[in-house]
Amino acid sequence: MTVFGTGYLGATHAACMAELGHEVLGVDVDAAKIERLKAGDVPFYEPGLPEILKRNIEAGRLSFTTSYEEAAEFGDVHFIGVGTPQRRGEYSADLKYVNAVIETLGPLLKRPALIAGKSTVPVGTAQALSKRLSEIAPAGDDVELVWNPEFLREGYAVKDTLEPDRIVAGVKPGGKAETILRDVYAKALSTGTPFLVMDYATAELVKVSANAFLATKISFINAMAEMCEAVGGDVTLLADAIGHDARIGRRFLNAGLGFGGGCLPKDIRAFMARAGELGADQALTFLREVDSINMRRRSRMVEVATEAVGGTLIGKNVAVLGAAFKPDSDDVRDSPALNVAGMMQLKGAAVSVYDPKAMENSSKVFPTLNYSESIEDACEKADIVLVLTEWPEFRNLDPQILDGVVRQKIIADGRTCLNPHTWIDAGWTFRALGRSV
Ligand code: UGA
Repeated sequence: MTVFGTGYLGATHAACMAELGHEVLGVDVDAAKIERLKAGDVPFYEPGLPEILKRNIEAGRLSFTTSYEEAAEFGDVHFIGVGTPQRRGEYSADLKYVNAVIETLGPLLKRPALIAGKSTVPVGTAQALSKRLSEIAPAGDDVELVWNPEFLREGYAVKDTLEPDRIVAGVKPGGKAETILRDVYAKALSTGTPFLVMDYATAELVKVSANAFLATKISFINAMAEMCEAVGGDVTLLADAIGHDARIGRRFLNAGLGFGGGCLPKDIRAFMARAGELGADQALTFLREVDSINMRRRSRMVEVATEAVGGTLIGKNVAVLGAAFKPDSDDVRDSPALNVAGMMQLKGAAVSVYDPKAMENSSKVFPTLNYSESIEDACEKADIVLVLTEWPEFRNLDPQILDGVVRQKIIADGRTCLNPHTWIDAGWTFRALGRSV
């Protein structure tokens, strides 16, 4: 099989499919990325992936190329895992990379093949791509399309790919796609993973509705955080208490700076845009509120920190611990942490950022911030320390380490991840989103 696109999704999928015993060719137009992958070097941070990549390259099951001709010749199943970013200045998703794969690969398909779309796309895309393939592929209707959305989380990508919660297959009636895909995922299916077959549109909707639900759950708890702030309650106690109801569940009820990354923010926006195109915009107007609650948390963090240092950030040193959009990732796309750091700098603060893995990516997107080598460096003469990504080394930070390092003992928790008493007992002023301590 082949996997087109070697970003977070594609590179993980390619390596994991090889781990399952398949012969896999990863394909990308970015020659530099392909050279790194060939050398067994993962161009981003994903726990467990480098080991699987190297092992399968060495076993001869996994290779990489930039050549579409080679890929068309090689593959019986072609996965598409390229990005579908938000269009500049719009809500909708940009399908140029998906379309480029279809337009380039399609005319090279001379024998029967299955194209399996994994990218997150607006509903209706699979139907259109299937039609286009039947027009441009020399093998005609022997080239079949299946929509097989991906639900992996960054940081857990290997586990989520090898042991998925469910496999979704959007198919055209009467084809061979279901049989082929069951064969591809035989190992996961043998352990009881549900295999759910449906039409194209429903399969596309499953993906975006799952992300919309997760985003809604986060914004719900952050709305409750706003209520807690208004009345002096504690959102973590509230989340624990409502989470005991199995119908609600505690997972994804962590209040704080809200969601960022390359998926949830752009997916809910693209979903709203597509609803509008389909004349169903009313169905998703609530997602506008989900998006605004989420963005409001970032400004609230700036407010809380500003109040804590006396009402102005001018002349203040701010230490920002965390830059990645979440722990166990070096991804800074739409990172709430970096957004807050940037806003504070614009309001006059001198901001020093430290993150265990995301320094390189952060300094590319936000070159004007100061980047520090360690927690202590970032906190040197700080008037306030902000914890904005809940990496374990920040969660478990010992206040004593910062004694004599900071200028003022003030800490603000943007991820409800610290134990307030640890800090208060050590003589710190403690501030947090969603809880007044
Ligand atoms: C998300 C989904 O969880 C995956 O199922 C999906 O496959 C993926 O998008 C995708 O569409 O590709 P991911 O973006 O890796 O995965 O990250 P999440 O773990 O969902 O976290 C998203 C954001 O929500 C992070 O910024 C995180 O800090 C925030 N979050 C998460 C909270 O603020 N509170 C929570 O309780 C959970």
